[in-house]
Amino acid sequence: MANLFEIHGLKSEIEGKEILKGFSLSIQGGQVHAIMGPNGTGKSTLASSIMGHPKYEVTGGEVYLEGEDVLEMDVDERARAGLFLAMQYPSEITGVTNADFLRSAINARRGEGSEISLIKFVRLMESKMRELEMNPEFMHRYLNEGFSGGEKKRNEILQMMMLEPKLAILDEIDSGLDIDALKIVAAGVNAMRHTERSFLIITHYQRLLNYIKPDFVHVMMQGRIVKSGGPELAERLEAEGYDWVKEELGIVDETVSQA
Ligand SMILES: Nc1ncnc2c1ncn2[C@@H]1O[C@H](COP(=O)(O)OP(=O)(O)OP(=O)(O)O)[C@@H](O)[C@H]1O
Ligand SMILES: [Mg+2]
Repeated sequence: MANLFEIHGLKSEIEGKEILKGFSLSIQGGQVHAIMGPNGTGKSTLASSIMGHPKYEVTGGEVYLEGEDVLEMDVDERARAGLFLAMQYPSEITGVTNADFLRSAINARRGEGSEISLIKFVRLMESKMRELEMNPEFMHRYLNEGFSGGEKKRNEILQMMMLEPKLAILDEIDSGLDIDALKIVAAGVNAMRHTERSFLIITHYQRLLNYIKPDFVHVMMQGRIVKSGGPELAERLEAEGYDWVKEELGIVDETVSQA
């Protein structure tokens, strides 16, 4: 079976400092891959580099979504092609309401001539907000402005549910969520699992993976994957931390400062 998403030897730097040092991963349609790893090992950099964030300069490697060369696409094209990132730290945008933002995003994804009608959009947004147990007032609030940490995370999932990406990257979607919200968000993600959609879930905690069952768990250190396994790997990390991985692999400094 062809891979839905493939990364080969991705290298990326910021302000001349290399962060990703040859990151490779293949994801088939329908799979959920989790990435865990100590702070500062390049997880968010990976997410931003895939999305084409202008701060990160990709200096090597290849990225393919359904065989299409992602690195050749500009940022808008990547979203249109079906890449989505729920950010670790979502930005606040004053003056743009949540509804305005989402409608533009959906229309950009659909392309000219296939825009969603206002009435359909409102119905869709209302129904997804109900699913996520969000207060309807969030429709007309400025994007993320004054949202609590958990409200921002729930709003990122709302965006994902409405945009229906092919590959959804969720960067620490569980941070800041209370227990009930975690279950609601996980249910939202699970409802979207589909043979033609994949998920890359970055998390520090195994607990999220109790609710969203991953097919594979990868450990990231020094800007690349250093170990892969199944859900049991996340359980062992939760119980024992990362020292045993470092010992096993002879890694002294797991951050990206080391080559
Ligand atoms: N704008 C920047 N300027 C300088 N260094 C940066 C910049 N952005 C990221 N870095 C460095 O790149 C490294 C990797 O950062 P990244 O955010 O990818 O880590 P992470 O694995 O997501 O960590 P965490 O688990 O804490 O979210 C860090 O050492 C960070 O300080
Ligand atoms: Mg991060």
